[in-house]
Amino acid sequence: MQIFNTIAETQNYLKAQQKAGKTIGFVPTMGALHTGHISLIESSKKENAITVCSIFVNPTQFNNPEDLKKYPRTLETDCEMLAKAGCDVVFAPSAEEMYPSLPKLKFDFGTLETVMEGKFRPGHFNGVGIVVSKLFNIVKPEKAYFGLKDLQQVAVIRQMVNDLSFDLEIIPCPTLREADGLAMSSRNTRLSAETRALAPHIYQLLTLAKEQLQSGASAAETQAFATDYFRNYPAFELEYLEIANFDTLEPVTQADTAGKTAICIAAFLGGVRLIDNIVF
Ligand code: PAJ
Repeated sequence: MQIFNTIAETQNYLKAQQKAGKTIGFVPTMGALHTGHISLIESSKKENAITVCSIFVNPTQFNNPEDLKKYPRTLETDCEMLAKAGCDVVFAPSAEEMYPSLPKLKFDFGTLETVMEGKFRPGHFNGVGIVVSKLFNIVKPEKAYFGLKDLQQVAVIRQMVNDLSFDLEIIPCPTLREADGLAMSSRNTRLSAETRALAPHIYQLLTLAKEQLQSGASAAETQAFATDYFRNYPAFELEYLEIANFDTLEPVTQADTAGKTAICIAAFLGGVRLIDNIVF
């Protein structure tokens, strides 16, 4: 496995691979890797000759400086996991390498970024758009793999790829969960034993909310049910539970019968912000 810290080395290596006719699959990450990330590497390996993983804790997508500071950095074990999974290239640049000067360009994703994560993390999707477009231009993959755990991120990246005619395909991949249903996340390591034991309630609630909507409850009734549910578990601070169309992320009043419905949640648990969703 090749590990590069500079854009120039990465591009030199990948250009030669592309010249030799090898297809490139790309998995952008912020490191602190877990089995969920590795499942994206595995998907890419199945469909491409070369798999590239980037590890970069992108400062421009953190609206909260404390969150950026606390973000786990585990480059050595990440590289061990990637080597074991058969990843071919790791691109792990410094912030100075990626941002010799701060970008002036700003993305506006319209309603895609005024709901849910966009509403509660102002500037977040602009930062994601900037870094992912830079990474796409550096790696020039045929296919890029993103987890549906970050459903809104997938929608935003899709929009960006269409609007800017990036010559690549976005492959959305399913959310990997722990045995008790908790969606795998780098943030889970910040949970205490006590809050870790409570965390599966997020997915339990999503499953119950889905059942309610499927049996005809309105979105408003389901949201009231969620608020009630967390009254029993005061350690949670529910930030939002939104019921939306899967493609547009526009709120729906009932389960969408024509398209797919997504239930998306964000909640703080012991100071750790967790997000999850269920699609049906
Ligand atoms: P990060 O949070 O490290 O996630 C990297 C990728 O792994 C994302 O596509 C995310 O959706 C996916 N992922 C996370 N948890 C997962 C799980 N439990 N199952 C399946 N996939 C999962 O998302 C980012 O980094 C950044 O915003 C990034 C795109 C790298 C831009 O900085």
